[in-house]
Amino acid sequence: MTYADPSDLVRGGEVHRDLFVDQKLFDQEMSNLFANCWVYVGHESQVPKRGDYYATTIGSQPVIMVRQKDGTVKVIYNRCPHRGVQLVNEGHGSVGPMFRCPYHAWTFNTDGSLFGVPVKDGYKESGFSESCASHGIEGVATHVYRQFVFARLAREGIGFEEFFGESLTTIDNMVDRSPEGRLEVAGAPLRYMHYCNWKMLVDNQTDTFHPMIAHESSAGTVRKIWEESGAQGPKPMVVEVVLPFTAKHEFYVEMGIRTWPNGHGHTGTKYSIHSDYTLPKEYTDAMEAAYGAERAEAILQEARHNTVYFPNMTMKGAIQTLRLFKPLGPDRTLVESWVFRLAGAPDELLERSALYNRLINSPTSIVGHDDLEMYERAQQGLKVSATPWVNYQREFHPGERYDSTQLWSGQSEVQMRNQYDAWVKFMKPAVSGEEVQA
Ligand SMILES: [Fe+2]
Repeated sequence: MTYADPSDLVRGGEVHRDLFVDQKLFDQEMSNLFANCWVYVGHESQVPKRGDYYATTIGSQPVIMVRQKDGTVKVIYNRCPHRGVQLVNEGHGSVGPMFRCPYHAWTFNTDGSLFGVPVKDGYKESGFSESCASHGIEGVATHVYRQFVFARLAREGIGFEEFFGESLTTIDNMVDRSPEGRLEVAGAPLRYMHYCNWKMLVDNQTDTFHPMIAHESSAGTVRKIWEESGAQGPKPMVVEVVLPFTAKHEFYVEMGIRTWPNGHGHTGTKYSIHSDYTLPKEYTDAMEAAYGAERAEAILQEARHNTVYFPNMTMKGAIQTLRLFKPLGPDRTLVESWVFRLAGAPDELLERSALYNRLINSPTSIVGHDDLEMYERAQQGLKVSATPWVNYQREFHPGERYDSTQLWSGQSEVQMRNQYDAWVKFMKPAVSGEEVQA
């Protein structure tokens, strides 16, 4: 099953093209990488009441995030232990006090434990009590951090705190931007298919060199229209959001990059394209009342650009959006773009977040489709076997390490190298449930 030693495919700031095109390597990512890492599943506000569920996938594995009787949230596999039927369809809803398989009516408590099997007499002396099925639905290691739900499929592996470390400060900042210290998912995400490898989308998040080139035609047009109109008066929200994409190279260099161990990192250590948004007085007053003037100012000044939570989630705390790149195949990725409401904040902030999501993150937007075109061209171009290596050497120095928090120039491709370093690390075989029981 093992394709190759993954460490042979990442070397000195270069990555082998097979990482983007090879099916066997993709399968290895699903069985190893996506099992070894803590992967984002969903937000607690998606399942407010007991029995509420949200069905999704971690890598290729169908899972359910479900609210328990005691108020906690658990992640379990979406598979009836009887004959394998998915207990709920992908999406969300409520199972009430228990799951009931639609095929043979086996029932399970919301924590996955077996509640009842019809025709119990038929299992007498069948060996059922020793069977896999008698254990109920298999659970997954779950950790909730400030309402964000993560899970690790591997039975053994890195702990949550060790995996994320200081990178959790981006989640902190997004939550702290609520005067009540609480977020709510605002409706369904934008969901769309990209015909490219999932890692291209992750790379793009800290690729500070592309906006002035790939987005020149779209964002540049907004600037032109705004300047031709006289650039007078308060900027319309759409102009305020799109104009920073036209910033010059120096802006992105100075903006800075911070890397954390295990493939996490962010752009915008000093400022970012989100720094100069207009904030309604009603909101800053509410923040000052909640945190005090000094702390409120510190929270709002921390306007990080994109944070990558390795392997496949990215977050913009300052605009309250989250993107999840769900791998479906080496050349197919389902992208979900979520928007959050800051509890206790005026609707104008949610309006800007929703506008940002439509305008920047959607492939039918004026910005997102620039990126999509580049990903899909790269997916095609990487078929060229005569050039097997993909280059990430901007500001690379041999011996570069990623095992501590570090600051870098904003034009470095270091965060992408950090991701591929973590890719090698977490591609080692995962400890699956099956292996533990054997
Ligand atoms: Fe872009």
